[in-house]
Amino acid sequence: MSIREKVWTDVIAVRDLEPGDATLVTLGSRNLAVFDAKDGIFVTLARCTHGAANLCDGHFDGTQIECPLHQGLFDVRTGQPKAAPARVPLRRFDTRVVHGMVQILI
Ligand code: FES
Repeated sequence: MSIREKVWTDVIAVRDLEPGDATLVTLGSRNLAVFDAKDGIFVTLARCTHGAANLCDGHFDGTQIECPLHQGLFDVRTGQPKAAPARVPLRRFDTRVVHGMVQILI
């Protein structure tokens, strides 16, 4: 068994983000939500952990994303659920910006 080393991977140019909102990006088999948040840029899986909803279709207040299906709430900075029925944290990725490009460690 080999253990692959994580690498910083380009996701999207900062200039292509929805300002102050969530942007859906497909990277390989992953659908990612890239949040242009009050505290910086954060990246999570786009699928709600409660069901199959795309969180990028929800309401984003700059810190928390509200699921469009049942109104579960997540803090995008940590991935932690903040309101039912969401109970399982979102998978979030270490994120950085280099030369105007959002990158995640995968
Ligand atoms: S699918 Fe998101 S809260 Fe139910």
